[in-house]
Amino acid sequence: MTFNKNILCIGAGYVGGSTMAMIAHKCPQYKVTVVDINPTRIAQWNSDDLPIYEPGLDKIVKTIRGRNLFFSTEIEHGIKEAEIIFVSVNTPVKTFGAGTGMAADLQYWEKTARQILKCSESSKIIVEKSTFPVRTAFAMERILSLTENDIHFDVLSNPEFLAEGTAIKDLEYPDRVLIGSRETPTSIKARDELIEIYANWIPKDRIITSNIWSSELSKLVANAFLAQRISSINSFTAFCEKSEADIDEVARAIGMDSRLGSKFLIPSIGWGGSCFKKDILNLVYLCRHYGLYEVANYWEAVVNINEYQKERFALNILTAMFNTLAGKKICLFGFAFKANTSDTRESPAIFIANKLIQERAELVITDPRALNNAKIDLNGIDGKISYIEDPYEASNGCDAIAVMTEWEIYKGLDFEKIYQSMVKPAFIFDGRNILNHKRLFDIGFNVFPIGKASLTHF
Ligand code: NAD
Ligand code: UGA
Repeated sequence: MTFNKNILCIGAGYVGGSTMAMIAHKCPQYKVTVVDINPTRIAQWNSDDLPIYEPGLDKIVKTIRGRNLFFSTEIEHGIKEAEIIFVSVNTPVKTFGAGTGMAADLQYWEKTARQILKCSESSKIIVEKSTFPVRTAFAMERILSLTENDIHFDVLSNPEFLAEGTAIKDLEYPDRVLIGSRETPTSIKARDELIEIYANWIPKDRIITSNIWSSELSKLVANAFLAQRISSINSFTAFCEKSEADIDEVARAIGMDSRLGSKFLIPSIGWGGSCFKKDILNLVYLCRHYGLYEVANYWEAVVNINEYQKERFALNILTAMFNTLAGKKICLFGFAFKANTSDTRESPAIFIANKLIQERAELVITDPRALNNAKIDLNGIDGKISYIEDPYEASNGCDAIAVMTEWEIYKGLDFEKIYQSMVKPAFIFDGRNILNHKRLFDIGFNVFPIGKASLTHF
C-alpha cells in the first residue's frame, strides 16, 4: 500500500498514542508511526491490552493498527522515513540541579532533537506536541541547524489541549487547534502542511495560527487558567464550611453569569493530573527568570491553594474522627486523578493516602481502573494497605469511606448495604460531592461533604 505522507510521532504516551490514533483514523491516506524508547510500552500498544485506558481509544486503535497506524521501537528508521515528525516525549519537572522542582526537565526532547539531526537524510517538519517552556523552539532550531548537508528543518509549535477521560471527543471535536510558526516562507509552508492534515476533519475556522512563542505560551497559560478556576472555587469551599453557605449553590449562581461560564467550577479535594502542577511551576520559574516576581507569586498561589485543599481534606478526616485514626480502617473510593482514566499521576489520592498512613490508619483502596497504578504509587509505604476492586467488599468492616474520584458507579451503590457492613459510627467524606448527602445521613452515616455543612448524628 502506498501512502501520500509519512507521519512519525516520537513518544508513545497518552498524548502521542491518542493524537496519532486520531490522525490515522481520520486520514487513511497517511502512514502514521508512533515510536518510543520503551519497548514494553510499544508491546502494549501492539497488544489487546493498551497501556492507557481512554474511552473509545481501544476501538479506534484495534481497527486501524497495521492498516495505517503502527507502533514501533525503530526510531532511526522512523525518522528517516518521515516527512513530518511530532515530538511528544515527556517534559517532567526537574528533580536535580538548578530549577529543581520548578523548571521543566528538557533532557528528553534534547535527546530527541539530536537523534532527529543524526538520522535525517531529507528535510523535515518538526512539530512540538509536548508542552514546552516558551522559546524551546528556538533551542530546537539551534540544534537542528547543526546539520552538515543541505537538509532543512522547520520547527512548529502545536500544543495539545486534550483532557484525559475525554481525549477521543476532544481530539475529534476540538475547541481549537493551535499552530505556531515563524513568518519565513518555509515555516509558513510547513504550517500550511500541518493545517492540511487537521483540515481532514476539523473545520478551518477552528484551526488558528500564531507566532511560535505565543503558541508555546498559550498552552501554559491555558492550563494555568483552568487550574486557577478550580483553585478559586476550592478556596471558597473552606469559606463555605465555616459560614454555612453551600459551594454548589455558589458555583451555580456565579456560573450562570455568561461572562464567567459554568465549567471548571466543580469543587474537589484538589486538582491532580500530570500537567497542571508541572506547567504552572514551569510558568512560575520562567516568570522569575524574566524578573517578573509579582506575576510568579500570583500564579504560584494557584498551586499553594491546591496543596492547602488536600491538606485540609486530610485534616478534616482526622478532626471528624475524634482526632485519632490509629488502627482505624478507611476505604478510599477511587484513586485515579479524575474519572474515566486509569492515570494516577499527581492524583490527590496519593497525598491523602500518605497522610492517613502517617496517622497510622489502615487503608483499603478501590477503583474500577486504577488499582495497578495505585499499587505502584504506594509501593514501599510503611503501612497496611489493601486493594479491592469491588466497593462493597472494600468498604466491609471500615470505619470511614473517603471519595477521591468521581466515578459514576459510586453514585448508584446500595449505601444501605454498605452502612450495615461498616464499623459504627460510620463516616463518609465526599471529596467530590457526588453522593446524596441527605440520604446517606438518613441511613445513619456521618457525612462530610466539600464546601457544605456536615451532617452528623452527634
Ligand atoms: P507520557 O509520559 O505518557 O509519554 C511520553 C513518552 O515519551 C514515554 O512513553 C517515554 O518513554 C517517551 N520518550 C521519552 N524520551 C524519548 C525519546 N528520546 N525517544 C522516544 N521516546 C521517548 O507523557 P504524556 O502524558 O503523553 O505527555 C507528553 C507531553 O504532552 C508532555 O509534555 C505533557 O505535558 C503534554 N500533554 C499531556 C497531556 C495529557 O493529558 N497527558 C495533555 C496535553 C499535553
Ligand atoms: C488538563 C486540561 O483540561 C487539558 O486541556 C490539558 O491538555 C491537559 O490538562 C494537559 O495539559 O495535560 P486533564 O489534567 O487530563 O486535562 O484533566 P482535567 O479535566 O483538566 O482535570 C484536571 C484535574 O482537575 C482533575 O483532578 C479533576 O478532577 C480536577 N477538576 C476538574 C476539578 O477538581 N474540578 C473541575 O471543575 C474540573
